[in-house]
Amino acid sequence: MLFISRLAVGFAIFALAVTAQTQELPEVAKVCVTCHGRDGIGTTPLNPNLAGQSSIYLVQQLTAFRDGKRKSEVMNITAANLSDDEIFAIAEYYESRVTCR
Ligand code: HEC
Repeated sequence: MLFISRLAVGFAIFALAVTAQTQELPEVAKVCVTCHGRDGIGTTPLNPNLAGQSSIYLVQQLTAFRDGKRKSEVMNITAANLSDDEIFAIAEYYESRVTCR
């Protein structure tokens, strides 16, 4: 089961890498804007920038927050109900924001 879900994540990451970049803010990312900004620049020095970050890294971190493997009070709660598809959409969006590169 774990193997199959890892395989699924692997395929999805591959699919992410070959699809065109999303420019629209996903509906599910509206809450993220409060802290990470619409263009992925943190709204306070304690909120990390996400702009231009690799989508593979973002998927990995968001999945870890959701599954409780990376601890952060705010992010564990925020990511708790995200589906894999929503995580991929958010990751693609923030990767496409290149303002801090
Ligand atoms: C209330 C503020 C807040 C909200 C809302 C929020 N975040 Fe965060 N986010 C943070 C903070 C603070 C951290 C740093 C966590 C830590 O201590 O590791 C963080 C970390 C992250 C990281 C890891 C960045 C890195 O460099 O490793 C990602 C990815 C992320 N958030 C994505 C999101 C997404 C996607 C959403 C919306 C679904 C979201 N965040 C909503 C405050 C927020």
